[in-house]
Amino acid sequence: MRVSNIFSFKKTYPFIYILFCVQSLTLHLWGGLLQGVMPIQDKLQQFQTLVDQNKIDKDLIRQSFFLFESGSNDIFNYFLSFDPPTLNPDAYVQSMLTQVEDFIDSLYRLGARSLAVFSLGPVGCVPARAVLPSAPVDRCFGKMNKMVKNYNQGLENLVKNVHIKYPGVAGVYGAVYDIVQLFRAMPMRYGILNVSSACCGYGTLGGQMQCGKEGYYICSNPNQFLFWDFFHPSEHAYKLISKLLWSGSQSRIRPFNLKALANITLLHS
Ligand SMILES: *[C@@H]1O[C@H](CO)[C@@H](O)[C@H](O)[C@H]1NC(C)=O
Ligand SMILES: *[C@@H]1O[C@H](CO)[C@@H](O)[C@H](O)[C@H]1NC(C)=O
Repeated sequence: MRVSNIFSFKKTYPFIYILFCVQSLTLHLWGGLLQGVMPIQDKLQQFQTLVDQNKIDKDLIRQSFFLFESGSNDIFNYFLSFDPPTLNPDAYVQSMLTQVEDFIDSLYRLGARSLAVFSLGPVGCVPARAVLPSAPVDRCFGKMNKMVKNYNQGLENLVKNVHIKYPGVAGVYGAVYDIVQLFRAMPMRYGILNVSSACCGYGTLGGQMQCGKEGYYICSNPNQFLFWDFFHPSEHAYKLISKLLWSGSQSRIRPFNLKALANITLLHS
């Protein structure tokens, strides 16, 4: 996939691998709610195999962007009662960050040089919290968002040091959490009318069932919703987020935006 397709940008950039979106970091998190989620280490192994078999050109890897966004399932599942965690929240977040560190390490050894790490959004605000006995319905789940913020802070620290630890790597951190909170605080400004419920789903907040499962309903105006389904933002929200990550200021993505990262990557290739 080309960056230009994603961001509808006229210039053609080198190839991009989007491999690790909406995956799970750890193995022990397979729950009934989110089936078919592949742990990150398995994805990485698949990638490594392709490289070992010379099916992916090393130069191409060097010229590619690697976009990383992972961990929301892990934190959400921490609160699922049928999957009781053994670690306390801080230790759990630390174990997630260790996985991310290992992952970045592996990517570097595979030849990756341009890395964008995106923070998690406020996972405690997703409509799916309606299935959690401990979560409130009328506001976001504070305990969950606290874990998310700790994790995001850890991610940002990793990115800050990435060019020191890995010479030649350009890394940026996208503050998706803050962007989504902006939408929630000023929805009208972003053309959003409903920040709480899923457009497609069932029950409380539309969050008690996945979109498409028997009995679901769907709203008539999906573009006016922050959430498309019980867990994911709407296409409208994703578009806004990607625009801000592409060309936004340092309060959205730092130390520079994706457009500048693409520029640097081009200069090196
Ligand atoms: C959001 O959408 C849901 C589902 O359509 C609806 O029940 C709810 O009242 C809406 N909330 C607001 C604030 O419009
Ligand atoms: C891209 O790089 C060129 C050459 O260094 C520079 O003039 C231009 O301002 C850069 N553009 C962005 C968006 O960083």
